[in-house]
Amino acid sequence: MQAFIENMPKAELHVHLEGTLEPELSFELAQKNNLNLPYKTPEALVAAYNFHDLPSFLSIYYAGMNVLCTEQDFYQLTWNYLAKARSQQIVYAELFFDPQAHTSRGVDFAIVITGIHKAQRDAQNKLGIESQLIMCFLREMSADSAMEHLLMAEPFVHYLVGVGLDSDEKNNPPIKFKAVFAKARDMGLKLTMHCDVNQQNTLLHIAQCIDDIGTDRIDHGVNSLQDPVLIAKIRDKKIGLTVCPVSNRFVVQSLTSNEIRQMLEHDMLVTINSDDPAYFRAYLNENLIELQNEGKFTEQEITTLVGNAFKVAWLTEEQQQHYLNGLSQYVQNHGH
Ligand code: ADE
Ligand code: ZN
Repeated sequence: MQAFIENMPKAELHVHLEGTLEPELSFELAQKNNLNLPYKTPEALVAAYNFHDLPSFLSIYYAGMNVLCTEQDFYQLTWNYLAKARSQQIVYAELFFDPQAHTSRGVDFAIVITGIHKAQRDAQNKLGIESQLIMCFLREMSADSAMEHLLMAEPFVHYLVGVGLDSDEKNNPPIKFKAVFAKARDMGLKLTMHCDVNQQNTLLHIAQCIDDIGTDRIDHGVNSLQDPVLIAKIRDKKIGLTVCPVSNRFVVQSLTSNEIRQMLEHDMLVTINSDDPAYFRAYLNENLIELQNEGKFTEQEITTLVGNAFKVAWLTEEQQQHYLNGLSQYVQNHGH
């Protein structure tokens, strides 16, 4: 089963580029940019990853990204993730980034997005991994700030496939960004937003995403199982759910394997993702393997989870079908 998962052609739809910053690269960039890290070694840095909920994770995540300063730094970050993803047989990825976490430190928007874009282009040409970019708004910041960043993105809109919403959910409902999302939609962008597990008012937040904003996907969204109306809407509108088992174990102490099985039983388009793999110490294969171990998912169920990611990817139907055909071929040749 492990080899079946590892060699399977896969897609990843929920990965924060800043969350792929490995400790070794942090040290390399800190030295290059003349910054002091308060740790002696990469191992000591990892040992200080003591998060147990969303806010405690986020404070470590934002402190970590201070080493990202130049276009080359963003290039390296993105290239390293895409190379790692390719080594895990990920053939297609949609990448989140958090521009406000960089502009607020004095790093230009253009530097961030250009570095990322060049690495995507080179990884496509040299490694054969296709990727698209999703710009996230930090929900604890104002709707005005989100709108300003959307306007900054206008000259680069062809670098983006969609926009998202992440960071601290408490008292920051999706509806706060209704006008920003409407504008993004007008710009031709797809929409997704985090509804992290067990957050305050999570059912209200999920309903806002669907009914008030008309989201295309929801990141996490696990609590939707508590409301039959939400289950039906997510299924009928074919809203993809990007669930991240190992991340969930850090923030809510559960891999959510029971919930993932229930989503499959409800025919919801649930997908498996890594979220912040450098921090949670698990990339996509490790997420799938741990999940399968705990939930005893069959090859067929794993294939459905992986296939769902291609079905809800922001690609044309022809592109989706191309990847789904590759997956079927793989299963025919390697399934039992
Ligand atoms: N930003 C990066 N990772 C995140 C997560 N798991 N939840 C919310 N915002 C995030
Ligand atoms: Zn996330």
